[in-house]
Amino acid sequence: MTVTKEQIVTWLEETAVVLNENKEYLTELDSPIGDADHGINMTRGFNKVMEKLPTVADKDIGNILKTTGMTLLSSVGGASGPLYGTFYMRAGMAVMAKEELSNEDLYKMLQAGVDGVVQRGRAVPEDKTMIDAWTPAMSALKAAVEAGDDTVTALEKSVAAAEQGMKDTIPMQARKGRASYLGERSIGHQDPGATSSYLIINALLETVKGV
Ligand SMILES: Nc1ncnc2c1ncn2[C@@H]1O[C@H](COP(=O)(O)OP(=O)(O)OP(=O)(O)O)[C@@H](O)[C@H]1O
Ligand SMILES: [Mg+2]
Repeated sequence: MTVTKEQIVTWLEETAVVLNENKEYLTELDSPIGDADHGINMTRGFNKVMEKLPTVADKDIGNILKTTGMTLLSSVGGASGPLYGTFYMRAGMAVMAKEELSNEDLYKMLQAGVDGVVQRGRAVPEDKTMIDAWTPAMSALKAAVEAGDDTVTALEKSVAAAEQGMKDTIPMQARKGRASYLGERSIGHQDPGATSSYLIINALLETVKGV
């Protein structure tokens, strides 16, 4: 099974919808351990992506994702703008000129994005960041792709792992970003970036399932 360019465009549209639906929730999560702007940042960025998308929707997947990343980079400040900007730009670079993706391509694309976030933000697992959703999500996706699962099954496993990773940030003490200034007081709160990352990969699953 393959993921088509049209599905990638739908994924980005679905992401914008889901982030707007969860704007208040993401901002609430960012209140006790941040500056209460994560929902605002993510919706501002993805609403700009929606404005740009029609101008690149006929291009290849690599170009569409690169434009998404550049748009996020230029429209979102703070930590998450450059990090998610890097995620989509690197993901795009990994699938340049492609019009559709095999499961291996899909894995390579997302892993390149995550590698970019790690390079840029220098977070390691258990720092209480978006990496804590992505790391288990990518391990599960890799195992599923290697086992020959179909795209929906592979993404279902990946999303389940991302959700668990997101919840597992609750007892962690933050070691990166603004939340780290709180020290032990950051314990007991779910990380907003891990939550938006879960929503993004879940949007991909929903798109591929066609619901
Ligand atoms: N170095 C990092 N690596 C990976 N993710 C990070 C890093 N720093 C912060 N984050 C993620 O960014 C999220 C916060 O994003 P937000 O949009 O609120 O930007 P911000 O307010 O500038 O961030 P922060 O307050 O964490 O510096 C965090 O929940 C965390 O998941
Ligand atoms: Mg913030």
